[in-house]
Amino acid sequence: MPIIAPSILAANFLCLEKDIEMINNSEADWFHLDVMDGRFVPNISFGLPVIAAMKKMAKKTFDVHLMIVEPEKYFEDFAKAGADVLSVHYEASTHLHRSLQAIKALGMKAGVAINPHTPVFLLEDVLNDIDVVCMMSVNPGFGGQKFIPKTYDKIKALKKMILYSGASTLIEIDGGVTVENAPKLLAAGADVLVAGNTVFSSPDPMKTIQELKQAGK
Ligand code: DX5
Ligand code: ZN
Repeated sequence: MPIIAPSILAANFLCLEKDIEMINNSEADWFHLDVMDGRFVPNISFGLPVIAAMKKMAKKTFDVHLMIVEPEKYFEDFAKAGADVLSVHYEASTHLHRSLQAIKALGMKAGVAINPHTPVFLLEDVLNDIDVVCMMSVNPGFGGQKFIPKTYDKIKALKKMILYSGASTLIEIDGGVTVENAPKLLAAGADVLVAGNTVFSSPDPMKTIQELKQAGK
C-alpha cells in the first residue's frame, strides 16, 4: 500500500489543530510540510516555528520539503524542529552528496526533490545515498496546480534505476495528485503520494485519504 502524505500547505492555517487531528485519525502516513523562501521558488510559506509547534500534537512522520536556497544552513534547525524526512532540491544543492550525509548524520532520512525539467539520471551516482526522491509533478511553489503527465515516464525510469542499483529509495510524487491519477502513478512505481488540494478541498478529507490509500488495489 502506498504511503499517503497530505500537504499542510493546503490546510486551514486558522485551524491547524483541527487539520492535524484529522490526519492523526486518518489512514495517512506522513505529514508533508512545504517550506518556501521566496528565492528558490516565487512564494513564501511557513518555517521552523510552525513545524516545531505542529510536532507537539502530530503523531505521524514529518516529511519536510525544503524549497529554499542554501538548505544546508538549516539542517540542524529542521532536525530540532522535528523533521523525520528532510528533502533538499537537486537544483539548490551544489554539494548534494555532502548534504545527504549531513542530513543522515542528524538522524533524519535524506530526500532529494527534483523539478519537472530535471532528468532522473542525474541522481544515478548518489541513488544509494537517497532515502526518498521527491519527484515534482508540478513546478514547485504553489499548491493546486495541474499534474504534468511526463511524470509517468520519469517514475518508470527512476524505478528501473533503483532496481538496477539495489537501492531502497522511495519514489514520492508531489503536485497535482488526485484520486483519479493515483492508480496510474502507483502502477508506474510510485511509493509515496503527496496530496494537498485533493485532501483539503474534499468534502470528506478522511475518506479521500482512504481512497488514495486504496488506489493501488
Ligand atoms: C508545491 C508543493 C506541494 C504542494 C502540492 O510546491 O511542493 O507539496 O503542496 O499541492 P497539490 O497536491 O495541491 O498540488
Ligand atoms: Zn512539497
